[in-house]
Amino acid sequence: MDVRSFLRQSTVLVVAGKGGVGKTTTTAALARLAAGAGLSVLVVDLEGKSGLPSAFGSSGSLDYEEVVLFGDDRTRPAPGDPVPAGTVRARRITPDDALLEYLADHGLRRVSKRLVHSGAIDVVSTAIPGIRDILVLGKVKQIERSQVADLVLVDAPATGHAMTFLSSARGLLDAARSGPVRSQAAEVVELLGDPARCQVLLVTLPEEMPVNEVVEAAFALEDRIGVALGPVVVNACLPDVPELDEDPAHAASCVGVTLTEDQRRALAAAAAFTRHRWSLQRQQLERMAEQLPLPQITMPHLVGDGVGPAELTVLAHALAAGIEQLGSPRSSTRPRSPGGGP
Ligand SMILES: Nc1ncnc2c1ncn2[C@@H]1O[C@H](COP(=O)(O)OP(=O)(O)OP(=O)(O)O)[C@@H](O)[C@H]1O
Ligand SMILES: [Mg+2]
Repeated sequence: MDVRSFLRQSTVLVVAGKGGVGKTTTTAALARLAAGAGLSVLVVDLEGKSGLPSAFGSSGSLDYEEVVLFGDDRTRPAPGDPVPAGTVRARRITPDDALLEYLADHGLRRVSKRLVHSGAIDVVSTAIPGIRDILVLGKVKQIERSQVADLVLVDAPATGHAMTFLSSARGLLDAARSGPVRSQAAEVVELLGDPARCQVLLVTLPEEMPVNEVVEAAFALEDRIGVALGPVVVNACLPDVPELDEDPAHAASCVGVTLTEDQRRALAAAAAFTRHRWSLQRQQLERMAEQLPLPQITMPHLVGDGVGPAELTVLAHALAAGIEQLGSPRSSTRPRSPGGGP
């Protein structure tokens, strides 16, 4: 599938997965890829503490105001302004930010700041579980509806919290019979249930525990939340280097180098270790493919000091290569139930 078609399948892409597997890095790589393909991108961060700006070479953390992370955009972005093509902007949305905006949009600007600063949100969220998540998702829905960007990427919290976060709307829908909370929840459920508007992209590592967790999360997301799943991004994969099976002394002699016995032994041990890790990785990827019939896209493990703009370009290329290998849109994104039924 071509990259643009893939990225235009749904406006909102929620990037989710276990803590530390590379959700923020994948979000950044997707944003970089989409902007490179000429799309306008708005990244929504839910905590404001992620390494997203540094992946684009910017310092600082994300705040309520939008910042430009990529692209030739010298305007000072105001919330609600359309994002120019080929540009990545990012902002943070916390429940407090979202409540302030909600109240301001409903003619309550003057009281809104006082309410939030007095801790009213904490009182409300104790009384109505899930309201914090609905405020944030309601804001994401409003951004999607306002069509300010071709792609809205949500860097979701780690899996456990993400599951509560995404299921909050359904819970509130059951609890609230009428009123603004119910209509907000209903609209969020509608957004999550429409693959043309929203998909979840799960990120994992090619290791046993993260693979177990991603399989479980995929079923739970589909069964409990009814959200469409995109391909699984397998981050930090080791490359396949079959040459490592060669005898190091022979490989060295081919380029005119003679190894000592110690050097030969050390290189052979390093090569065997790497090949072993690669074969364990392959086993995990095969196991995941058996248990979860979602396409997999791999991103390489990069050595060095963190992920900056140069690394991001490499990761975006890897995503592009994986996307180009995919079949037609949403061909097999529904996982089988664990029992093997439909
Ligand atoms: N492919 C990669 N190669 C090398 N380093 C990586 C790669 N992907 C991520 N990292 C590094 O791993 C760390 C964790 O990545 P990241 O912050 O994207 O994970 P996360 O899932 O967003 O974490 P959290 O759950 O804390 O939000 C970061 O320091 C990041 O730079
Ligand atoms: Mg993160």
